[in-house]
Amino acid sequence: MNELHQKTRHITDLILKAACEARKETDADGGYASSGPVKWPVSCTVGPGLEGAIACESKVGYVNGIKGSLIYRGYDVFDLCAYSTFEEVSYLLLFGKLPTASEFDIFKREISRYMAVPATLRLLMSFPIESFNAMAALRMGAHFLRREFSNVDRDDYKSDVENVIGSDEDSIAMETTPRGEKRAIYEFHEKRDKKEAAEDDGRYNPATGYRSCYSLIGGVASMAAAIKRIRERHLPIEPRPDMSHAANLLYMMTGKVPTPEEERIVDVSLILHADHGMNASTFASMVVASTMSDMYFSVGAGIAALNGPLHGGANEQVVNMLNEIGSVDNVKKWFDSAVAEKKKIMGFGHRVYKAYDPRARVLMPLAEYFAKTNTRLSGMFDIAKSLEKEVVNKLGKEKKIFPNVDFYSGILYQSLGIPKEMFTPIFAVSRVSGWTARVMEYLENNRIFRPRAIYSGTFDEKYIPLRERK
Ligand code: SDX
Repeated sequence: MNELHQKTRHITDLILKAACEARKETDADGGYASSGPVKWPVSCTVGPGLEGAIACESKVGYVNGIKGSLIYRGYDVFDLCAYSTFEEVSYLLLFGKLPTASEFDIFKREISRYMAVPATLRLLMSFPIESFNAMAALRMGAHFLRREFSNVDRDDYKSDVENVIGSDEDSIAMETTPRGEKRAIYEFHEKRDKKEAAEDDGRYNPATGYRSCYSLIGGVASMAAAIKRIRERHLPIEPRPDMSHAANLLYMMTGKVPTPEEERIVDVSLILHADHGMNASTFASMVVASTMSDMYFSVGAGIAALNGPLHGGANEQVVNMLNEIGSVDNVKKWFDSAVAEKKKIMGFGHRVYKAYDPRARVLMPLAEYFAKTNTRLSGMFDIAKSLEKEVVNKLGKEKKIFPNVDFYSGILYQSLGIPKEMFTPIFAVSRVSGWTARVMEYLENNRIFRPRAIYSGTFDEKYIPLRERK
């Protein structure tokens, strides 16, 4: 058991208790699993939005919507939350097995190296990021990572942004919590020659392959944190190589070294959000990859899709909804009018889960545990619990609508002082592992995605010149 888990056994107990609850559910199979290689073509009944469509075969993860269970490479997500870490789960998703100690050290060192993204932050800070939607800034940053760490644009990349930045690129100070440092430590002493910094230190990659995955898993975390700082009119904070991914994410956002409990909550949340079958953002990143574009464009597409309130953007909407309800006394009235108006209630329902989302089963007790030390949040948690009861009693029975991953995550992040605009970027910080793992797997037997539409338009229309049209 690692040191963090030893210090936060009570959180492990909460997770294992949630696991017991979940395993009481039916053990019916979701019907989308096969013991051997899939024999193509397969027949399936497809609804609008590709409901029921089989896009590919995968070993990365499986969502059993009937049972309400989620596995990554055969491991139950409850066990991974209880005993693993986000870095180890990222390795598992990418390589299909748990790492040996030496494999894990190399992997962690790679990810940590790629968290240092000075050139990317320089470019990012040349835009008014404080006025950008956080996910728009993150998606732009993913493309700046491509420029910092890959050579794909080398010949024709001549933007005047670079020249402007280049003229003072050795002087943009980066705010660093004083650790005996009396000056910004991103300043370079000697004038840098035109060689790219990343090329210098061996972090360059061809924008595809595992190195591009590492640079995105490391870089997206640093960028999300930097975007939060810039939106608050602060300078970014550089990562600390002695910290875990989860601890660094919090530290780079707040400038404070997180407590073991804070680090553990974020680590568990990153594990829970890492992969989830053919969800919209994962599918979007795979579609882009299937055209033989590159990993940075694929992750950029994933970020764009995740932004939608029907997908990763729901967690922010849940907090707005709970604030709008305002008190437990208002819940029933609010819910009845939402049902009457056939409103989609944020944080509930799922295309695949027709049982309680296992991730919500973990996030709820964690939110309860951390909210109770904060009066405002404990009020919000009580509203959430009361709304959950109303929804499950009515829509759970009628339409199999239960809380999903987004319902409690926002309360948890707020208990860490994270602003709601950062909830979805944090979702992306985690899901970049699932996006890159599934892209790498799909490219092993790539076939460009090209579904059909049923044409229900007319035929044999005659062309009428403009002057004769009524
Ligand atoms: C995520 O795919 C993934 O795995 C996604 C995700 C991941 O990890 O990647 O799990 C993350 O995106 C979670 C979902 C976050 N989104 C929300 O919480 C937004 C609210 N949820 C809904 O918009 C909806 O439930 C979806 C989008 C999540 C799923 O929608 P579907 O499968 O297209 O369902 P539907 O719209 O066809 O609804 C079926 C019925 C409808 O009623 P009828 O027209 O049949 O009478 O269920 C109703 C819907 O009105 N319904 C809801 C509801 N969700 C569905 N009614 C009230 N509130 C809801 N939330």
